[in-house]
Amino acid sequence: MSGFSATWLALREPHDARARNTEVLAAVTASFKQDKAIRITDLACGTGSTMRALSPLLDARQEWRLVDNDIALLSKAEASRSLERVAATAVALDLNHSLDVALERPIDLVTTSALLDLVSDTWLERLAAILSARSIPFYAALSYDGRIELTPSDPCDAAIIAAINAHQRTDKGFGPALGPAAANLAVTHFQSLGYSLVHGNSDWLIGSDDCEMQLEVLSGWANAAADTGMLTVTDTDAWLTRRRDAVAAGLSSIRVGHVDVFAAPIRTR
Ligand SMILES: C[S@@+](CC[C@H](N)C(=O)[O-])C[C@H]1O[C@@H](n2cnc3c(N)ncnc32)[C@H](O)[C@@H]1O
Repeated sequence: MSGFSATWLALREPHDARARNTEVLAAVTASFKQDKAIRITDLACGTGSTMRALSPLLDARQEWRLVDNDIALLSKAEASRSLERVAATAVALDLNHSLDVALERPIDLVTTSALLDLVSDTWLERLAAILSARSIPFYAALSYDGRIELTPSDPCDAAIIAAINAHQRTDKGFGPALGPAAANLAVTHFQSLGYSLVHGNSDWLIGSDDCEMQLEVLSGWANAAADTGMLTVTDTDAWLTRRRDAVAAGLSSIRVGHVDVFAAPIRTR
């Protein structure tokens, strides 16, 4: 599976849905409870996971603009709208070069999930400045925060985790990626622009019965670690083999740290 394939996004979606921080979600929905209609732009929508998670929690009529640079994911996203009160339009854009275009219409809420760890600080600051100038609230879910806990422990875990976190900082198309620093920096930038923040963990807890997700995550991590050259191929392969054996034996579980953030402008729109 590639990094953003529809198959991978479908595999992770139930984990994302369980992990989403309920206090952060409650803060998002509370701030729109008076609204009859909401215009939402979802950045890097993939197949529409955030729309599926959030739209049933909002009573208002919703117009979602779903933005991504992957046409195949976008067509699945647009087609996945299921509620009568929800309309969805797919917009194909490269968010690194066309962020202003993505945000040019009237917008009541900008959302994203699993994006902020891919972007650079320059991009994040630009986003925060655009939203702040128009007093637009921002819900960013599931930013990876660098925490990985593996059970049972393995002597190579620390070296692999260090390599994964180094790989997280490499360029993913937006300049040097924020990786594990993303959510904290989002909080800092939006706070400094006068937003009020609600944030909290949204960790994946991948149990021993969820072999497919574990195997996919572990092989993705082994590839990322190998790309950095921080470990030998022999050590990385041996680590992956031991981890796969633990999954097959029903002994393995994995926690992956994420953070959800809701930034609400203090001024009213
Ligand atoms: C980890 S996936 C998250 C997808 C979705 N938000 C979710 O939570 O399932 C990252 C998404 O960012 C999109 N993406 C990556 N680089 C992009 C860019 N430069 N412009 C627009 N979308 C981009 C990918 O196509 C992918 O859908």
